[in-house]
Amino acid sequence: MTNQPLPLAQLPSWKSLESHVTKLKSLHLRELFADDPVRGKEMTLETLGIYLDYSKNRIQRETLALLFDLARQCDLPNKIAAMFRGDRINITEDRPVLHTALRAKREQSILVEGANVVPDVHAVLEKMRSFCEKIRSGEWKGQTGKRIRNIVNIGIGGSDLGPVMAYEALRKYTDRSLNFRFVSNVDGTDFSECVHDLDPSETLFIVASKTFTTLETMTNAQSARSWLVEGLGGQESAVAKHFVAVSTNASKVSAFGIDTDNMFGFWDWVGGRYSMISAIGLSTMLAIGPTEFESLLDGFHEMDEHFRTSELEQNMPVLMGLISILYVNFFDVQSIAVLPYEQYLKRFPAYLQQLTMESNGKSTTLEGQRVDYKTSPVYWGEPGTNGQHSFYQLIHQGTALIPCDFIAFVEPGNPLGRHHDILIANAIAQAEALAFGKTAEQVQSEGTAPWLVPHRVFDGNRPSNTLFMQKLDPCTLGKLIALYEHIVFVQGAIWNIDSFDQWGVELGKVLAQKIVGEIESVSEPLLGHDSSTNTLVDRYRKRKK
Ligand code: F6P
Repeated sequence: MTNQPLPLAQLPSWKSLESHVTKLKSLHLRELFADDPVRGKEMTLETLGIYLDYSKNRIQRETLALLFDLARQCDLPNKIAAMFRGDRINITEDRPVLHTALRAKREQSILVEGANVVPDVHAVLEKMRSFCEKIRSGEWKGQTGKRIRNIVNIGIGGSDLGPVMAYEALRKYTDRSLNFRFVSNVDGTDFSECVHDLDPSETLFIVASKTFTTLETMTNAQSARSWLVEGLGGQESAVAKHFVAVSTNASKVSAFGIDTDNMFGFWDWVGGRYSMISAIGLSTMLAIGPTEFESLLDGFHEMDEHFRTSELEQNMPVLMGLISILYVNFFDVQSIAVLPYEQYLKRFPAYLQQLTMESNGKSTTLEGQRVDYKTSPVYWGEPGTNGQHSFYQLIHQGTALIPCDFIAFVEPGNPLGRHHDILIANAIAQAEALAFGKTAEQVQSEGTAPWLVPHRVFDGNRPSNTLFMQKLDPCTLGKLIALYEHIVFVQGAIWNIDSFDQWGVELGKVLAQKIVGEIESVSEPLLGHDSSTNTLVDRYRKRKK
């Protein structure tokens, strides 16, 4: 599958980057800007209505050239082609990785085992559309003949984070006569608080689970069924009118009691964290309607095409992915902050946590060797300006180097006096402050007492990207999400890891199942864990009511 001739850290471009970065580390962004007055205009890339300013990174043109060499030596162009073609690049699960097929145009052909999957994708979209129209028009009635007013998505991980994030991001585009809620945590509080003011006769549950075996989702779905049946006078037949499923597992769906006519399918070549635009997006389509959902799909598709066809040097996901590699592998960066200056994107950082860290939080190469370089940093963030009054202190003056992605839109979600000008001024100012800081001389010149000067100095030289777009609408959201999906792909391709499995979540799941049995055992269980785990289980058993 790969033509990469040497282990990553032995590639010539890697070695060149190592020596180049030694010099780079001694340069300040102040000097880089002073030496190159057009840098702020030229180190930008605009595509599909997304303006990326990457000039405030600790890079020179030579750095970029070396990073693109690295990408070529890692066979990135062929790896991109292999994903889009449907090669089985998820090697540990022996599957293609084809979330891009979910947004393919009707006339495209993408083959999996010789069969074109695009017609299947569009058939599911059609089924979703027709269902959404029935719910949104009120044609679909609940058990007592009332129309559906409340939609509760039950899912976790990729079956929750994408739907919640999209709902919040596109709230302006949603049908406000429908009430959307999302239950994910197995903590009973999540379900109880979700339904406490809902009328079961007006409530539809979407049980969203790729596998339909996930403990949290199945536990919540069972509780939802009991709540509904009880609330509707014990009529089991109500389940058919109030439950639909989104899954790849038809037999488990029917075993749960949901008619497979009310099931929306997808395929094992869609990873959970890449599934928000599959049938997992049913709640999104219900909220924004089929036409806006189509715009969302278009946005994803446009970014897919940009990623698939653009030269590396003009390719936004490639550029951003490579810059992140520079920091992680050559500047020892441990985390990257994503800071949307847009309230509607408040769940975007949470969504990115799964996308980035479940994908690239790996330490084994595709050949099964332990990596001898760093892989995924921690991705985190909060919407601006809230973060400024919380953790930005550390980004400005702490000891860790934390590259930031600022995300901003020219048009406000809700025009309100001076709010948007103030918001955007803050985004731009933060990037400026991080890059250029404030020298001791500047602080002194303001009449600061000498003892206070060191406390008030800002070193600067703290890198950031700024992504500027016109307006947050479904199409733009699709482009933005696909941009980060492909950044993650670029990182995984360079690190030579499988970005599409998630074995690291398995052990905890297995142990939890065992411990549930011990906790609920009527007779005293024989505990065979370590002394800490045994004591915790025992303490809980003795104290629980
Ligand atoms: O626990 C990890 C995980 O498998 C994620 O990758 C996935 O998004 C989530 O669980 C939910 O899985 P499912 O959709 O099968 O319920």
